[in-house]
Amino acid sequence: MLDAKTIETIKSTVPVLEVHGQTITKQFYQMMFKNHPELLNIFNHANQRQGKQPAALANAVYAAAAHIDRLEEILPVVKDIAQKHRALGIMPEHYPIVGENLLAAIKTVLGDAATDEIIDAWAKAYGVIADVFIGVEAEMYKDAEQQKGGWRGWRKFVVDRKVKESDVITSFYLKPEDGGDIASYKPGQYITVRVKPEGQEFTHLRHYSLSTSPGHDYYRISVKREDAVNGNPAGVVSTYLHEKINEGGILDISAPAGNFVLDQTKEIPVVLLSGGVGLTPMVSMLETLLEDGSNRDIVYIHAARCGSYHAMKEHIDKLTREHQGQLRSYHVYESPAEGESCDKTGYIDLPWLKTVADPSADFYFCGPLPFMRAINRALKEWGVPEERIHFEFFGPADSL
Ligand code: HEM
Repeated sequence: MLDAKTIETIKSTVPVLEVHGQTITKQFYQMMFKNHPELLNIFNHANQRQGKQPAALANAVYAAAAHIDRLEEILPVVKDIAQKHRALGIMPEHYPIVGENLLAAIKTVLGDAATDEIIDAWAKAYGVIADVFIGVEAEMYKDAEQQKGGWRGWRKFVVDRKVKESDVITSFYLKPEDGGDIASYKPGQYITVRVKPEGQEFTHLRHYSLSTSPGHDYYRISVKREDAVNGNPAGVVSTYLHEKINEGGILDISAPAGNFVLDQTKEIPVVLLSGGVGLTPMVSMLETLLEDGSNRDIVYIHAARCGSYHAMKEHIDKLTREHQGQLRSYHVYESPAEGESCDKTGYIDLPWLKTVADPSADFYFCGPLPFMRAINRALKEWGVPEERIHFEFFGPADSL
């Protein structure tokens, strides 16, 4: 436990961090990658470029510092981050590297204002915060390894089938190369893929939501090809998977993770909403709901640019026919091609949502940020309480 003086120093420097937080974390990453270039094998380079990861880390450090004397209050947030850390293979020995470089960055940016007293206090506080993460992650590594079919770290999987789902989305069915069992998962969870495309200096890691119900002898991920747009380069991993990885190809995979999961203990209606490739966790949840024998009334709404971008349409249509009376599904096209039919043109909005969904339902949604913001705003305006609103971001968590 930290002494009262250290706690006071930490709390009084939080406002300073808030002003310089982004500068400090950017400086921190530059220093850390210069001193430890091997960490570029773990961090997402695209997130770095877009400044997303520095922002996420900065926010987490403020939150932790502001709660330094009651860290248990931020434990749920720690657990979300720790799930990602576990999936990426972050180890206890990585923590001192982050700590040393963070302190050096604080010194560099704050200059004389960073007195020895302040630096000592932050060193102690970082140690306490790091120990919380290391402890939570140790439990997660143990759970991942000890469950039936589970494993620690990376395991080789063979692409058993590769199926094109739309112009931009392709599914990969993955079976373990060793022929053993695979760990089960909860609908909504993701697996992490590690690849090293030819010509790339570092390995690249990406999380992909599992896109079927659990209980098969394979994992399925459905990946959107991220082409170069608006000055942003094409996605290294998605392009590699689409273009270079074929049936028989091998991928390194870490065990399922993630806290965005379907609550199967509930009996109230469920509304699932997805935008674009955000359909992956939703299809997993939908299949699970239909298979688990519950009688919950289900509405599934999918938004896509147009028909050629609409993945898994036939599958969803078939499920809707087979489960008439329990499942209703709708699709919304931003700009349908000529002759394409859809249930709504443009975007999902509250007046339309009110005609198809029930506000007493549990709502789950996933998709691009503008989609998520629009849905969240609509649900709030409709009066849906927070505890029935569940969502997940692609990439580093952001605020709606
Ligand atoms: C992701 C916080 C330590 C590597 C994240 C995220 C946060 C965070 C908030 C974003 C989670 C999200 O995607 O929603 C922290 C804090 C740490 C810490 C507060 C220390 C107490 C570490 C260490 C490493 C590490 C020691 C390894 C050297 C990563 C990586 C990601 C990540 C690779 C994924 C993001 C990306 O690749 O863009 N962390 N982290 N973190 N963290 Fe940490």
